[in-house]
Amino acid sequence: MCGIVGYIGGQAATPILIDGLTQLEYRGYDSAGIAVIGPSGARRVRSVGRVRDLEATLPKRLAGKVGIGHTRWATHGAPSEANAHPQADASQRVFVVHNGIIDNARALRAGLEADGVELTSDTDTEAIAHLIARTAADTLEEAVLATVARLTGTYALAVLDTAHPDRIVVARNGSPLIIGIGDHEMFIASDVSAVVRHTTQVVHLDDGECATVTAGGFHLFTADADHVGKTATTVEMTAAELELGNHRHFMLKEILEQPYSLERMLTGRLDERFATARLDGLNLDPQALRRFKRVKILGCGSAYYMGQLGAQLIEELARVPADAEPASEFRYRNPLIEPDTLYVAVSQSGETADTAFAVQEVKRKGGTIVGLVNVVGSTIAREVSGGVYLHAGPEVAVASTKANTHMAVGFALLALALGRVRDLSITDGTRIVKALKELPRQIGEIVADGDKVVEAAELLATAPSLFFIGRVRGYPTAREGAQKFKEISYRHAEAYQTSELKHGPLALISPELPTVAIVPDDELLDRNIGALHEISARGGEIVAITHHGVEVDARLVIRVPKTEPELDPILLMIPTQLLAYHAALALGENIDKPRNLAKSVTVE
Ligand code: AGP
Repeated sequence: MCGIVGYIGGQAATPILIDGLTQLEYRGYDSAGIAVIGPSGARRVRSVGRVRDLEATLPKRLAGKVGIGHTRWATHGAPSEANAHPQADASQRVFVVHNGIIDNARALRAGLEADGVELTSDTDTEAIAHLIARTAADTLEEAVLATVARLTGTYALAVLDTAHPDRIVVARNGSPLIIGIGDHEMFIASDVSAVVRHTTQVVHLDDGECATVTAGGFHLFTADADHVGKTATTVEMTAAELELGNHRHFMLKEILEQPYSLERMLTGRLDERFATARLDGLNLDPQALRRFKRVKILGCGSAYYMGQLGAQLIEELARVPADAEPASEFRYRNPLIEPDTLYVAVSQSGETADTAFAVQEVKRKGGTIVGLVNVVGSTIAREVSGGVYLHAGPEVAVASTKANTHMAVGFALLALALGRVRDLSITDGTRIVKALKELPRQIGEIVADGDKVVEAAELLATAPSLFFIGRVRGYPTAREGAQKFKEISYRHAEAYQTSELKHGPLALISPELPTVAIVPDDELLDRNIGALHEISARGGEIVAITHHGVEVDARLVIRVPKTEPELDPILLMIPTQLLAYHAALALGENIDKPRNLAKSVTVE
């Protein structure tokens, strides 16, 4: 969703802003803009469409060593040049870029109009620019503080004022914002990927914090404190990780990276001697881990499906009742928070607004919440009391793949740790540790053997609608498979429990509606094979994802290596990622940036 960049220093700001916006493109947006203060005053350029469209409209000379830029995902008002950011006050003195949503925007806009201000956009952000410009304050910092005090909702703001061209003032409440520290130059961004080419030293703002950023440094403050001390952290990401390299799409690059990224994630985390997982970051000792009587997992979209997979792993290995719920539902239903439940927030970006809100709800009610998060230093990672970093590396494609696999493995580690302080025997613990060690190599085998997947994807791409089915352990994999397929191929793909077919959906089976069946070689194999016969008997085409040696009645069979039964769903998921990718490729869709979707859903 929306992205913010800012620069102040000795270089020309415009190319740095455009490059930063390009790095933020993956988040999803519909318009973009920049404002730069140069020797002859401020200049703002905005455009609907891609960053390259904005670049094409830039005047030849847009001099200036301080500026802000934005990619906008429309919330208040349609995508248009007038609604694009930066928004400005009437005299074009104050320019503002904003991520988040101001809930009382309607009242603020009405108040401004009643005072005779002529609004030129439909946005909540324009109100902020006018309010800052109209505040009688001695400094820009005071004007920003007075204005944010009037806002309800979420924001990350960067403010440029032609009366103070030596600074950018920023503020945060509920939307991420970082300051990147360079050598006599400073950067601002909503996401480290926008600044990582220039610096790896960043400071994360917390809610309620503001900062004055000048070429020489930054000064943090809040409404209550003139000075907030904070040190910079080093980001792990490198600029090279954000490059496509020889790959056609980030999604395929990220699928193929999994053997290596998983190897990295597991390094140092498997304790073979005690047959458990080393998860020091959880900040929970064995006594504390034993105290929990339940586990509740909260995440959205694919992260929620991985939470379902994780809940099963925890129940199977640790014998602790566990379930997953969409954080987007949990947060709206006044949930009961129990002191002996371990809450787990799961998120790739660490910035999903619904999940972040659910975390706050658990904390507010005194619950213990830890995180399984990929992006280091992200909002959720900093809100939780401990957690397991997923270390999947940057994920650029909107359709999440490697981060999902890392989430599933993260839950296996958590299940192992919870199990080994309870009744999981050393023999069973060793069985899982050994299997986890083998996963990267096995995933390597699956991704290297793509021919059957391509054939199956081309078959499925021609169907307007399809089923993904799985039973018990296989069901979250089926749900995630369907999600991936619909996200990028725009085909209707519905997941069902294999066990539920005969209770209704079997009525839809016909040669026009193919089924992707997740068929692990486990204790439920006979039942799954029986269901496949029922589908074939009704003329349904089947693509089965199963293990070597399993005899299935299917049009096409994709085989994966066997692991321990509890971990089978992880390997069975990998072909579903490739199926979605190759189907979208066959259909000629925009794989990395599917329509209507954003990488990180930072608004509610
Ligand atoms: C995954 O392919 C989706 N784009 C989406 O469901 C995503 O998993 C969800 O929005 C949660 O994101 P998060 O993991 O960054 O919190």
